[in-house]
Amino acid sequence: MRRKLIAGNWKMNGLRASATHLVQGLLEGLAGAEPPCELLVCPPACLLETVGGLIAGTPVALGGQDCHGAEAGAHTGDISAAMLKDAGCAYVILGHSERRSDHGEADDLVRAKAGAALAAGLTPIVCVGETAAQRDGGRTLAVVEEQLAGSLPEPGPGQALVIAYEPVWAIGSGRTPSNEEVGEVHAAVRRWLEARLGGEAAAAVRILYGGSMKPGNAAELLAVPDVDGGLIGGASLKAEDFLAIARACA
Ligand code: 13P
Repeated sequence: MRRKLIAGNWKMNGLRASATHLVQGLLEGLAGAEPPCELLVCPPACLLETVGGLIAGTPVALGGQDCHGAEAGAHTGDISAAMLKDAGCAYVILGHSERRSDHGEADDLVRAKAGAALAAGLTPIVCVGETAAQRDGGRTLAVVEEQLAGSLPEPGPGQALVIAYEPVWAIGSGRTPSNEEVGEVHAAVRRWLEARLGGEAAAAVRILYGGSMKPGNAAELLAVPDVDGGLIGGASLKAEDFLAIARACA
């Protein structure tokens, strides 16, 4: 049985004061109780230390939003996977569509980053998803499979991996695919993983849905077969919304 993962991608939001307020709200809402899913927050890099200090010893895990593909060196402004690990991260989001569009990140770069994350002991959350034009053109599954083939690292024993299916047109738009459409893509991702990794390893990979997941639609999206959690943007910035989504896993 895969334990559901609810991950908050804060994107480029928050300062120390607001991040502290948000985390305190999350911890108060949990009130020491074990949540019905795994919980993860991915703040901007400069807030990792603040947030990491607040969530240490709680059921909330810490993740980064990106890392470099190299171990160390002359890469101004970049952060290595080992630095994220050292800051207390367990996960790192990679290949988010905003990285792909804002920074021109292509599949082979995402694959290098995922390899670096694994080497540093982080679990990569590799994002894939089609644009509106690609969906309208009937190319959703082909695009997602091509991104998986290009972005995932070479399989290895005991490799921890999370995939996030995020239709680009659903991110921040308030629109989501139908439950059937989500189920179709998640089933295709699972089949693709089975062919690549074998049944047992593929069954261990969690496939998250991301894109306008909110308290109002979380329960139905999380009930779709092969939806193993959510990658939440806007709604992760409000403690009560994020916790309501987590509760929808129960
Ligand atoms: P929204 O939840 O704001 O649509 O963002 C989704 C996302 O991009 C998470 O990575």
